[in-house]
Formats: sequence, structure tokens, C-alpha cells
Amino acid sequence: MKKKVLTALLCTTMLGSMLMGCGGDNSGSEGSKPDASSAAESVGKENTDEDKTDDSGVITVGFSQVGAESDWRTANSESMKDTFSEANGYELIFDDAQQKQENQITAIRNFIQQEVDYILLAPVTETGWDTVLQEAKDADIPVIIVDRMVNVSDDSLFTTWIGTDSLLEGRKASEWLNAYAEANGIAANELNIVNIQGTIGSTAQIGRSKGLEEGVEKYGWNLLEQQTGEFTQAKGQEVMESMLKQHDNINVVYCENDNEAFGAIDAIEAAGKKVGGDVKNGEIMVISFDTTNAGLTDTLAGKITCDVECNPLHGPRAEELIKKLEAGETVEKLNYVDEEVFTYDDSVKSVTAKNSLDEEADYAVTQITQEILDKRAY
Ligand code: AHR
Repeated sequence: MKKKVLTALLCTTMLGSMLMGCGGDNSGSEGSKPDASSAAESVGKENTDEDKTDDSGVITVGFSQVGAESDWRTANSESMKDTFSEANGYELIFDDAQQKQENQITAIRNFIQQEVDYILLAPVTETGWDTVLQEAKDADIPVIIVDRMVNVSDDSLFTTWIGTDSLLEGRKASEWLNAYAEANGIAANELNIVNIQGTIGSTAQIGRSKGLEEGVEKYGWNLLEQQTGEFTQAKGQEVMESMLKQHDNINVVYCENDNEAFGAIDAIEAAGKKVGGDVKNGEIMVISFDTTNAGLTDTLAGKITCDVECNPLHGPRAEELIKKLEAGETVEKLNYVDEEVFTYDDSVKSVTAKNSLDEEADYAVTQITQEILDKRAY
């Protein structure tokens, strides 16, 4: 597909949102690459100069992925690779940035040089994208932002975005905690919370931390400490170990993804304490995000009391946007994915929260079952 022809067909609305339902499951894993220059892998058709200029119908997509820091990220990479396959008519150039923005900028410049038809970017942090996205715009290459958001001075620097509402996720967790405390006779000032944050400056961290901070302000909980666990299990464990040494009264740990929660649980258990929702009897409650299979397994076991969904299966959603653009159709600028909340017990049935667009709604809270868990493939 020739990108010049394609660009003439582009038509996007500047504002608005649409909900994209959860896609099908997939699973698998990929390892991180040794350095930025070797991190790009071509999945699908061989990337030759001929392919970029012919009319074979093959669509070339360059995807700059954050890294492989979590189970969620692995599922996300697999979803993109499965979708943008040779069999589906794509050549995918996949680049693992190993959680470094400079690697992502290099990857995007390489995609521009290779004259890809589309650039997909899962940005590690929100800021710092103006220059390179301007370069992509100057080269007439549409950019689709996936998962986290970019904070740019001119939103025409990207064509469309598909991802999660991280602020809404954080608010759901806070509203759930308040309702849980009320249902279980726990006073607000009895809650002593530590927050293991995600990668600082990423949308997922900004939204989830803000959701918690709003809850602290609104309900009067004690927020003892906030520190990044960089969305990894190892760092989550390290940070929890240090927090347990610092504070002897922690009864809630708010982890910003499942992998941090796994590390925190290991640290709590190694310290001879019990994880669980019975904070009145000395348990430390773990709140998490993602709802991976391993996260929901811990939820079913009562080790995680509340897990808020962040769905990683963006491949089919990104493809739907590309298909619309190819057909000259209008796409929404912001495409939020509809997500759920899963809990160990059934003391809270629903929460009311505002999303990033300031719309308030009720969200169901579902007690996890083996049947639900069995369907979670990633
Ligand atoms: O941006 C999505 C977050 O990034 C997921 O919650 C986390 O697991 C991943 O690393």
C-alpha cells in the first residue's frame, strides 16, 4: 500500500470517544532484546525496498513497544504480532524499546526511513514526543498511539489513540476501597496505605496514582509512602521490602500492576505477614491492576483483594482503526477500552466513578470465580 495515496484518505475527528469492547484472548511470551539496534524484528513479510513501493496490498506497520516488563506487556506484544501477521496481509516491524524513550525515538526514526505505512507507538512516558512525531507527520505517516497516551502540544501529531482510561481505573480502585471499608466496618483513618507506583510519567502511573490520591483526599485515608516499582515484579518486591522496614502499620498496598503485586506479596509473606482483606485482624490487603491470569489466580486465592482490569489485547482494535483509515472512514481521536473490576469477595457489588472525560457512571464489581479465571488466557 502506498502511503501517499493512503494519507489523502485520512480523516479523523479531533475529539470524542468510543468504547471498544474486549477482544479475544491470546497468550505467549517474548524476551527483551540485547540493545536498541538489534531490538527491531520483522514479523511477516521480508522488508525489502521493493515491498514499500509496490502495490501488493501488503501494509507495513512499525510498532515501537515499551518493553517486556510485565505479563500484561507480553500479552500486548503477542496480540499485536498475531494481528499484524503476514497471513493477515501485514509486514510488522516490531521494536522492543526496553523501557527507554530514546530507543523508541530511534525506532520511530527508523520506521520513517523505511517508509512504513503506519507507525504504532506504545509510549513509555507521556512527554517528549513532539519532535519525533512532527518528523512522522512531515513524512506523511499516520501514527496510532496504543495503550498509554502522549502529551503533545499539537494533537494533530498523532492520528488516533486506543487504550485504557488509567484515571478511571484508579478511581474505581479507590471507590471500591471506600465501599469495602464501609461494608466491613473499617474506619477511614484505620487505613494505612503504601503505593507501589508504575513507571513514573507513564499514563498508567499518572492515572492510577491520581485515582488513589483523590481517594486519600476524599475519604481521609493515611497514605504512608509512594515509590516506583517500575511495573516489574523484582522492583515491586524490593520496594515492598523497604516499605515494610520503614512502616510497621501498613494494612493496604496499592500496586499499580499485577507484577508489582506478585513481588509485594512475596515480600509480605517473607516478612512473616499475611496478605488478605481482613485488615482488622492484621492482614495486609493487596490492590492491583491488569487482571492477568496470574493476577486473577491470586485474587481467587484471596491474596489480591481487588484487581482492576487493564485489557492488553489491542492488536485487533488497532487493526480495526487501520482498516477504517484504509477505507477513508472517519475514526475517533480517542478510543477507550471498556474494562471490569474483579474481587475476592462479594462485599461490594458496584462502584460509581468519573472517567477522564468527566462522565460519571456505575461499574459492576465481579467476585472472581474459577469459570472466569479459566477464560483468561493471558
Ligand atoms: O500501560 C499499561 C501498563 O503497563 C500495565 O498495567 C502494566 O502491566 C504494563 O507494564
